[in-house]
Amino acid sequence: MKPKVFITRQLPDAALEMIRPVCEVEIWPEELPAPRGVLLAKVAVLDGLLSMLTDKIDAELMERAPGLKVISNYAVGVDNIDIPEATRRGIIIGHTPGVLTETTADLAFGLLMAAARRIVEGDRYVRAGQWRTWSPMVLLGRDIHGATLGLVGLGRIGTAVARRAASFGMRVLYHSRTRRPDAEEQLGLIWADLDTVLREADFLSLHTPLTPETRHLINARTLNLMKNTAILVNTSRGGVVDQAALYAALQEGRLAGAALDVTDPEPLPMSDPLLTLPNCVIAPHIGSASIATRTKMAEMAAANLLAGLRGEMPPHPVNPEAWQKG
Ligand code: DGY
Repeated sequence: MKPKVFITRQLPDAALEMIRPVCEVEIWPEELPAPRGVLLAKVAVLDGLLSMLTDKIDAELMERAPGLKVISNYAVGVDNIDIPEATRRGIIIGHTPGVLTETTADLAFGLLMAAARRIVEGDRYVRAGQWRTWSPMVLLGRDIHGATLGLVGLGRIGTAVARRAASFGMRVLYHSRTRRPDAEEQLGLIWADLDTVLREADFLSLHTPLTPETRHLINARTLNLMKNTAILVNTSRGGVVDQAALYAALQEGRLAGAALDVTDPEPLPMSDPLLTLPNCVIAPHIGSASIATRTKMAEMAAANLLAGLRGEMPPHPVNPEAWQKG
């Protein structure tokens, strides 16, 4: 009997071509995620689940899935999954690190540039018919070259952003739990405590996973430390930023701008006050969304899933300790 697998959204064909020959597969066909009740019912008979960051995989769901061996998340971030609970139950989790690093760093830097040079505002200005002549004082932004970039988190994506920043002639400060002497030497980065990074940054880019410790790391207190000319860029997880505090800072001119690829919640409701601010650029969580990268992520997620189903350690496990238990 082939193992039973549920894929919670349509994926690039590359993944399906790997999974279909060896599994009994069901794919959720809709654009929106399967409702919670549907997911809870489906997992009852599953051996493997290929999930998205929009699926909440918690103790209740795992309790309903007695045969579940592997959860392969189509993302590098796994904050949608209760990892300790999965480990306790011997369910191995796979994710997709590495392949999306450069693509996500491209977007982070693109958002930084868009906010600094007011590109989105410029586009709206043109489309609204306001461009009547070249103008000395219209849509003046901020220089990127020579500015200080503050990075919170220096994992793969943070490092890739630092590389881009160095080649733009930026000074780069970073704060992370673990110092990275290699990156300091190769890219000229400077480690500093978080408050110093916040105080000195002209641009602050977030690259930390969402954990209980990083939830609302950017809040009223930390925003107050930032320059009122600074711009915040977030391509990590929306929950790292206290959005009410961010809105207040932007609205009161205590922060010059923000560029967010991630929000809390997602999608951002159309009534959210951030959407009223011209100095806030918002993208719909597209950090890894290039054709090539999403295809590589699909192949990686399929490889993790299939290894877990065969009882092998997935190539990219999140909780390898679960494997011994399973
Ligand atoms: C991730 O992988 O965690 C991104 O947020 C989506 O690709």
